[in-house]
Amino acid sequence: MMTWTPLHGHPYEPIPYHPNRIPVEQALAASAVLRARMDERRTVRMFATDPVPEQLVLDAIAVANTAPSGAHQQPWTFVLVEDPEVRARIREAAEAEERISYGGRLGEEWLSALRPLGTDEHKPHLTDAPYLLVVFQQRYGLRADGTTYKHYYGDESVGIAVGMLLTALHLAGLAALTHTPSPMKFLGEVLARPRNEKAFAVIPIGYPADDSVVPNLTRKSLDQVLVRV
Ligand SMILES: Cc1cc2nc3c(=O)[nH]c(=O)nc-3n(C[C@H](O)[C@H](O)[C@H](O)COP(=O)(O)O)c2cc1C
Repeated sequence: MMTWTPLHGHPYEPIPYHPNRIPVEQALAASAVLRARMDERRTVRMFATDPVPEQLVLDAIAVANTAPSGAHQQPWTFVLVEDPEVRARIREAAEAEERISYGGRLGEEWLSALRPLGTDEHKPHLTDAPYLLVVFQQRYGLRADGTTYKHYYGDESVGIAVGMLLTALHLAGLAALTHTPSPMKFLGEVLARPRNEKAFAVIPIGYPADDSVVPNLTRKSLDQVLVRV
């Protein structure tokens, strides 16, 4: 297998790419199934402690790693945390920040936006779910010798990768929560990440608890989000 090195400064090297076209009937059937299946995805906040097959999580991370990225810089690092002690430290630090946030730091407008979700400063999912996946964004490239190079469209690239990750987890029958305790600086400290990485999201992964509930939300219709020109 080829080892990844940054392409930065390399010459253009075209190679053939001819994926087979999917017959239209088959494509329509597959996309209708996918559309319905994805409509079932919900953010889960109440997890069972049951173990999940590690390979499902590794496969989802591998899917995320196929995401397009600005200048193909793949500016992401996935830190998979199982260690109960580390998860407990993350929960403690996250709840400390969230107590301040929900206690007023977020401001009334933000708190009003969150009210229908029923969230608060208690974050049991951080220790209940069998896996915590902490996604870091590499703000710039850091070579082994300590020199740096720019990354382009990092926010967009990591956002797309996380979207693909969540899709893969859902299609594998797993539940996830995109959790962004604000501020997230403590994650880099607890997980001893290098100086070019900033936490993007912490994603508990597992199965929903037997008594799991989700907020009653409806999604915008296609008409509301699609403009045709
Ligand atoms: C960037 C981002 C940050 C989020 N942060 C949080 C969070 O910190 N805590 C939380 O409970 N949910 C968080 N969510 C989940 C959203 O609240 C959820 O996606 C939304 O309410 C829609 O629900 P659904 O995912 O079930 O369709 C976040 C989602 C995104 C995309």
